[in-house]
Amino acid sequence: MKKAVLLLLALAMITGLCGCGSTAAQATPAPAPTPESTQESVSPAEEASPAEAAAQEPAESGTKALVLFFSRTGEQYQVGVIEKGNTAVVAEMIAEATGADLYEVLPADDHYPMTYKELTDVALQEQRDDARPAHAGELPDMNAYDTVFIGAPVWWGDWPMIMYTVFENTPLAGKTLIPFSTHAGSGLSGFDRSLANQYPDCTVAKGLAIAGTDAQNNPDKVQSSVAGWLGELGF
Ligand SMILES: Cc1cc2nc3c(=O)[nH]c(=O)nc-3n(C[C@H](O)[C@H](O)[C@H](O)COP(=O)(O)O)c2cc1C
Repeated sequence: MKKAVLLLLALAMITGLCGCGSTAAQATPAPAPTPESTQESVSPAEEASPAEAAAQEPAESGTKALVLFFSRTGEQYQVGVIEKGNTAVVAEMIAEATGADLYEVLPADDHYPMTYKELTDVALQEQRDDARPAHAGELPDMNAYDTVFIGAPVWWGDWPMIMYTVFENTPLAGKTLIPFSTHAGSGLSGFDRSLANQYPDCTVAKGLAIAGTDAQNNPDKVQSSVAGWLGELGF
């Protein structure tokens, strides 16, 4: 029920945004449908930081971290046409701060429009169809990692559908997963909960939600949020 209400709020927000046409850059973002989710963590994360978890259970595999993300360039909400995606900006900061490897999920056939309104239409149709858009190439060998940061823009109150393709094709059992989003008001939008549903055998740690506008226009603020969050997680 709560999810339905949140989705309706997200739909209302997007519809409002799209209706703004070329003046969207001046529009005031709607209140975040899921503000509380930016502060929440999925239960296992409160019990052990990645470092603590690693100490408790001998690593069955690698001990490195990976930052896996999806992001779009082109026209994005309130930031105009961008050359580096909002989520990519945050992903790079996380990788730099932690020494993690970085991997960008790219569509196999890049059918995503570079204009905002058209992109929202395509993404909504994918969500309605419960689509699994293919990603390009092979993902990295996950045996090398014990911690995977996973980030994406919030699309219609959820992960972009291409991320569900990744989740379903990528076994990650036993690893610590750490979600992050960029958004225009919806916060983490339940990324942590859906990740925990996808990966019941993983620890899902506290996520981070960053406003897309800050990723483009306020890097110092984002850097400080990333550093504080990583500190809480034990990095
Ligand atoms: C298809 C689409 C759907 C979106 N849906 C939402 C949403 O439901 N809630 C929200 O806060 N922002 C939404 N946004 C805004 C993006 O989450 C935000 O601009 C994000 O920072 C874009 O990141 P990127 O440049 O890494 O792709 C949406 C944007 C697009 C393109």
